[in-house]
Amino acid sequence: METKHIIIDRKNVNEEELREAASIIREGKLVAFPTETVYGLGGDALDASAAKRIYEAKGRPSDNPLIVHIADVAALSFLAVDIPDAAYQLAKEFWPGPLTMILKKSDVVPKSTTGGLDTVAIRFPSDEIAQAIIRLSGCYIAAPSANASGRPSTTCAEHVMEDLNGRIEMVVDGGPVRIGLESTILDLTEKIPVILRPGYITKQQLENCIGKVRVDKGIMKTKKEEGAAVVAKAPGMKYRHYAPKGQLTIYEGESSSVISCINQKIAEKMKEGALVGIIATEETKDSYIGGMIRSIGSRYDEEAIAAHLFQILREFDSLHAEYIYSESFTDNRLGHAIMNRLMKAAGYNIEKV
Ligand code: TXA
Ligand code: MG
Repeated sequence: METKHIIIDRKNVNEEELREAASIIREGKLVAFPTETVYGLGGDALDASAAKRIYEAKGRPSDNPLIVHIADVAALSFLAVDIPDAAYQLAKEFWPGPLTMILKKSDVVPKSTTGGLDTVAIRFPSDEIAQAIIRLSGCYIAAPSANASGRPSTTCAEHVMEDLNGRIEMVVDGGPVRIGLESTILDLTEKIPVILRPGYITKQQLENCIGKVRVDKGIMKTKKEEGAAVVAKAPGMKYRHYAPKGQLTIYEGESSSVISCINQKIAEKMKEGALVGIIATEETKDSYIGGMIRSIGSRYDEEAIAAHLFQILREFDSLHAEYIYSESFTDNRLGHAIMNRLMKAAGYNIEKV
């Protein structure tokens, strides 16, 4: 199959151009499109065979449920049942936006979309292109991140093409996404809601809106053994994610010690003739000697770090980096989501120095 690549001018979004994308979805076929978090790989959420196509295109295990994307809050009561008040409060505060809510599913949602679960993940994206495609298709759109299973999520259309060219009908190119990390997932089927995946909307923001929220125990393990043993409630969290082809190690500690340890590693590996990548920051990029050095942004600019993380991991893959060394980042606010993804990419391989 040939994947059609259409480019949309965000300054002047022409809905006519999106009609073709919408009609492909309506026919039960697949379109990748931008959201504010990452690109999504969309299909009709209420069509069991479209869900099957999504799993096939990604090479994703079919017990890993999909997020259903909506473009109006009223869809909640169609797709879910036993909806707690907190869900409406959160919708009012954070939708459209990078928050996914897990609720008990209604009968209209097929189990092939929810990976066999009785719950459904629902998100109302803020991206204008995503909203237009949902509205024009007249469907609810099931969309996992538009990457091949196991690889970093995609933050631009070129990355989608890298992974899915020839496997889907169309990519709608709206340029680079705004956030760069996937949505926060909150399970509202528990008495105290549980964060299953940290994201742009932080625990503090959620608590300011609905009171106490827990973080799933599986999310932030620091030791390798614990990380490997995680069986988090979001089924997707148990699979290896974001994994670059090279071996990624995170160094944590005082900046000067981190730099000198990484420099030692660079020298050692380069002597063996290996290709080495370094994830540095604006503050430290000039302190490394040798290797392929990439600045992820200023250490004090979490939004920039979030926006560049997956892109750098992909770049090191295309450069065939065999070893990747990364600095670590603070673990609060958006940093919590950044460290969660970085730790998964590293297979929880972190050295404290
Ligand atoms: O930002 C995002 O959420 C992006 C964009 C495209 O919207 N989507 C995304 O989808 O990241 P995906 O499929 O790559 O990740 C969805 C995660 C998976 O870990 C999955 O296991 C979890 O959500 N999930 C989906 N439905 C669930 C459910 N009913 N219960 C628990 N976890 C669920
Ligand atoms: Mg994903």
